[in-house]
Amino acid sequence: MSSRSMPASQDLQSTLREDRVFPPPPEFAATANIKSLEEYETLYARSIADPESFWAEAASELHWFQKWTKVLDWQLPVAKWFVGGKINLSYNCVDRHALGDKAGKTALIWEAEPVANGKAEVRTLTYAQLHVEVQKFANVLKSLGIQKGDRVAIYMGMTPELAIALLACARIGAIHSVIFGGFAAHAIADRVNDSQCVAILTQDTSYRRGTEIQLKRTVDEALAQTPSVKNVVVLKRSGSAVQMKEGRDHWWHELVAKADATCPAEPLDSEDPLYILYTSGTTGTPKGLVHTTGGYAVGTYLTTKYVFDLSNPNHPNDVYWCTADIGWVTGHSYVVYGPLQNGATVLMYEGAPNYPDFDRFWQIIDDHKVSIFYTAPTAIRAFIKWGDHHVEKHGLDSLRLLGTVGEPINPESWMWYRDRVGQGRCPIVDTWWQTETGAILIAPIPGAVPTKPGSATRPFFGIQPEVVNKEGHPVEPGHGGLLVVRKPWPSMARTIYGDAERYKKTYWSDVEGCYFTGDGARCDADGYYWLMGRVDDVLNVSGHRLGTMEVESALVAHPKVAEAAVVGRPDDLKGQAIVAFVSLDLAHAAANTTPEALAALKDELKKWVAKEIGSLARPEDIRFTDTLPKTRSGKIMRRLLRELATNGEIKGDTTTLEDFQGLAKLRETEE
Ligand code: PRX
Repeated sequence: MSSRSMPASQDLQSTLREDRVFPPPPEFAATANIKSLEEYETLYARSIADPESFWAEAASELHWFQKWTKVLDWQLPVAKWFVGGKINLSYNCVDRHALGDKAGKTALIWEAEPVANGKAEVRTLTYAQLHVEVQKFANVLKSLGIQKGDRVAIYMGMTPELAIALLACARIGAIHSVIFGGFAAHAIADRVNDSQCVAILTQDTSYRRGTEIQLKRTVDEALAQTPSVKNVVVLKRSGSAVQMKEGRDHWWHELVAKADATCPAEPLDSEDPLYILYTSGTTGTPKGLVHTTGGYAVGTYLTTKYVFDLSNPNHPNDVYWCTADIGWVTGHSYVVYGPLQNGATVLMYEGAPNYPDFDRFWQIIDDHKVSIFYTAPTAIRAFIKWGDHHVEKHGLDSLRLLGTVGEPINPESWMWYRDRVGQGRCPIVDTWWQTETGAILIAPIPGAVPTKPGSATRPFFGIQPEVVNKEGHPVEPGHGGLLVVRKPWPSMARTIYGDAERYKKTYWSDVEGCYFTGDGARCDADGYYWLMGRVDDVLNVSGHRLGTMEVESALVAHPKVAEAAVVGRPDDLKGQAIVAFVSLDLAHAAANTTPEALAALKDELKKWVAKEIGSLARPEDIRFTDTLPKTRSGKIMRRLLRELATNGEIKGDTTTLEDFQGLAKLRETEE
């Protein structure tokens, strides 16, 4: 455990401030799937006493081509769920509804970002229409020679075709690897090469805050370094000119026009991989977490049903909107797989919350009668900053449930969300989970569990979290420690693509017998979990996960940089902002001593990182230093740098060189 630092006590203070409790609003509870605390507690107790029969019962609500023979085969850290079962997630998301009584129900409502004459383009697809589109695109994939087990990279904006692409891959057993549209060419190439993707699905451009993002151009740059890619399929979104390479690049619409509309869903093994999703860790390059089919289906289905109160016969007309991009796990589990398995109407919006005006989200909620809204604390903090009048212009009467995800929510933002957006009548589900967990692990069941602002509250069914100390012993209620999970659960990631050893070392070696989350937490006397942020070198910038090492590697790849250390500094809006301490190559240090030269260099380095990784990794601040403070063994003293970056102990013009001389004595005392 030596590399993990325990959560800082000031974090604990800030989460402890709020001790208000809000019972579920009675009018919500009256029609909810789970209506009382007693009901939650009874079902939870049952799920813990006998998880296998609990999960088997949940799995029985889905369609299986062949039933499993064994619910769980657990040989730490290798879990196999629903062993011997044959299932298809595309079938469960689409066919089950299209072939049943939901054929005419709207599956997807998509709203484009551009607005002309006060109107944005809107497209809707019923389950029957989605069924046709998914089958056609599955046939497109097959026509390119893509087969079960092949990896397909997807680098797109938020369009209906993106959801269709995921479902088409799932239908034929191709493994999708979605790469967030904000990543740069290098980052794409790294991910594509790591899993040897055979194809990339992309689009000409996407829209974000009124500008066209050149997706195909970035893919072209990446393609220079990705020999495994044989085919590129390009969706025409804006019609902007793009280069198409004969034989390799194909227009989406041309292939779809030729495709047959029938493609039966392949019966897949429960443990056949569904997707790879790269996420940042403490060390090295991003890890390709592998999720498999059966367990992930059950986990996302059931959490969506209970946490978002879907599949609720009292609310057949719910319109569900999760604002996450499908490039992140939240989009996989709670834009596509979870809600569609529940036969919900899912809203997808293409663009930014503040385009063309700051009230775009509220306008969308009113226009489409959104009833369930799921977003990130960083967005909520931005709404607060932009001013209440943008929210107050809209009725928001359709809303009945609100959710948050991605980072701890400060109680003030929670209260604002409850009062201004939810108008006091909507429960708030603060959902804690990770790319690795596949589905929500800690969150209130909205009709049952009273909420406390800033707490993700209590565990989901079948989940046994625990807060432990560095030695792995449970800590007293109310004390901070490391969050672990005791037992396997169906939607957990199975491995890191191509690196089973790293998977074991990263997640299953810190605390014996447990999954280690990398998060600090506290569990109060009522059994409520309060998340306190990462205890490792993973940053959370606007809900986006980044490794300090990734940013450091990008910086040292710059010819003028000798060494770099990156830390997170608390930020009112983003949660964390990136601060980089950089020491320059000697020749460049000597040549860049004027404040103007250093300011220009800062700018150059910020742009460099954005170009290397993507603008989400762009440092907020860069500080130059002769040397980086290190331990005797040569480890950078990040804790110290974090303090410097956070407490602003370094005064004066930040363009001047930092002086760490005064810190030298600390080197003697550090471990
Ligand atoms: O630190 C936790 C934070 O986000 C991390 C997981 O990031 P990622 O894999 O990108 O998945 C984000 C969406 C599930 C966690 O280790 N986190 C996520 N949700 C919460 C949270 N921290 C506090 N409260 C949450 N509700």
